[in-house]
Amino acid sequence: MTQSLNKSISIKEVQEIYSKQLPHTELNLILELILNKSSLYFITEPYKKIAYSDIKLLEKFIKRRLNGEPIAYILGKKEFYGREFKISSDTLVPRPESELIIDIIKKDLNNNHETFIFLDIGTGSGNLITTLYCEFLNKKNIINYIATDISNDALEIAKNNFKKYTTKELKFFNSDLLTDKKLFKYLINSCSNVENLVIVANLPYVDILLKEELLVKQESCGLKFEPDIALWSKDNGLWHYKQLISQIFKLRSYLSKTKITSFYEINPDQNILLKEIIKSHSYKKITTYKDLSKKNRIIKHSF
Ligand SMILES: C[S@@+](CC[C@H](N)C(=O)[O-])C[C@H]1O[C@@H](n2cnc3c(N)ncnc32)[C@H](O)[C@@H]1O
Repeated sequence: MTQSLNKSISIKEVQEIYSKQLPHTELNLILELILNKSSLYFITEPYKKIAYSDIKLLEKFIKRRLNGEPIAYILGKKEFYGREFKISSDTLVPRPESELIIDIIKKDLNNNHETFIFLDIGTGSGNLITTLYCEFLNKKNIINYIATDISNDALEIAKNNFKKYTTKELKFFNSDLLTDKKLFKYLINSCSNVENLVIVANLPYVDILLKEELLVKQESCGLKFEPDIALWSKDNGLWHYKQLISQIFKLRSYLSKTKITSFYEINPDQNILLKEIIKSHSYKKITTYKDLSKKNRIIKHSF
């Protein structure tokens, strides 16, 4: 239950009263949002009064948080690879483990002077493609960036995030994986004279049969606030990757001169099964990378 006050009180009093309900850090983040001030202000001006209407708003946010909603949705933003990304109920909250894809690509491309195009499938908030753009700002051999999502609402958020960090135009496509004809044609045309196409995908990979079980568990109940379309997949959680892998195989036949390398974020338990699927399409080089918790997290394959 949230405590309800009906008068304006100081920042210090607010912190004392409401830190009984929320951890101090989260409380300060919400206060920063409501008051549009930095946390330094709370230290230098502890006796400044907070308007009654702001306290009501704070109580509303605390109620949402106590109801299990991730703090990132309440704040409408999340940090990824050191940059802030706007998010909404239409996008997944970017996860720290997804930063591994960026690290691997940075290492791979460090001394590579061939030409590249990056394609992000299921871009969500645009965190992966925007980060790649920012991290490779000085590399002139990366000549194009493309992002897709099946959700138009997510694409709008991704566009905003990309604009925040760049002045470049990014090609966005609303597409079910690679099935949109305009996207497919665009890829064939733009890659024809390019040496490498790098595909990144963090597609829905949570087994839909586990949905009910996961949503009632304390540690995973926050998933109910994330878009279904970003999380759940049929076929042991592998349906989306299965489709994508066979679509890339088709794309391959149109791009005989371009090397295609794909990076997929996976559920660690899917490593062996997904590798089998990739091998069944006669891909040769497959590598799995572990995240900081030593769990299989990224699969790379190229040909
Ligand atoms: C797990 S989220 C990943 C979001 C973001 N790339 C990240 O790494 O945080 C999956 C994204 O894939 C999108 N998606 C789901 N099904 C899709 C499909 N068939 N084609 C394209 N995108 C899809 C969802 O809308 C969602 O934005």
